[in-house]
Amino acid sequence: MGLEKLPRIAVLASGRGSNFEAIAKAVQSGALKAEIVLVGSDKNDALVLEKAKSFGIEALVQKDQSLLCQTLQSKHVDYVVLAGFMRILGANFIEAFRDPRGFARIVNIHPSLLPAFPGLDSYKQAFTHGVKAAGVTVHFVDAGVDTGPICAQKSFSIVDCESVEEVERLGLAIEHELYPQTLNWILHNQFEISERGGRLHVQAR
Ligand code: GRF
Repeated sequence: MGLEKLPRIAVLASGRGSNFEAIAKAVQSGALKAEIVLVGSDKNDALVLEKAKSFGIEALVQKDQSLLCQTLQSKHVDYVVLAGFMRILGANFIEAFRDPRGFARIVNIHPSLLPAFPGLDSYKQAFTHGVKAAGVTVHFVDAGVDTGPICAQKSFSIVDCESVEEVERLGLAIEHELYPQTLNWILHNQFEISERGGRLHVQAR
């Protein structure tokens, strides 16, 4: 490793933590050049807490958003990475991570091709709707629900899927690849940001 300072990230998650695990493995292997300084959860019994400890990463349960925000700031977190965090972040939290370029340095992964199927159970929504292609989106977080600037998307065919579980299995495998890959260029500032149609557009360099 060179002398370059690694970007410091905190992962926030409420549940199983398979995306956290994919990110932590990518960090471990050197594929994702970052340091995970903290895993935060709003749930005492979230599986992700055990997973964090197994990687030797500090895990914290904090239900109070302003205290959580203060902790992240005191740890000099550059980017907040949401991975199945089931709380909507308040305006103050988002402002605390506002980048001069306009977006907030908070990233989320959503299991659909946004703006289709925002909110909960998106793989189920896609399956029951009968779409031919489902997908995954990595985006910056803004004050809305799953509405922030889109960083990366990947679609996959669900024509042959016979259950929601099958859609979810295919989708999660894509999430686990796409999230670390996308974080790598985001965290290292390898993107352009521009405004078009009243929205911020993010383009990897
Ligand atoms: C993933 O499907 C993610 O896209 C969504 O919540 C789920 C979290 O799964 N935001 P896990 O906790 O990472 O396994």
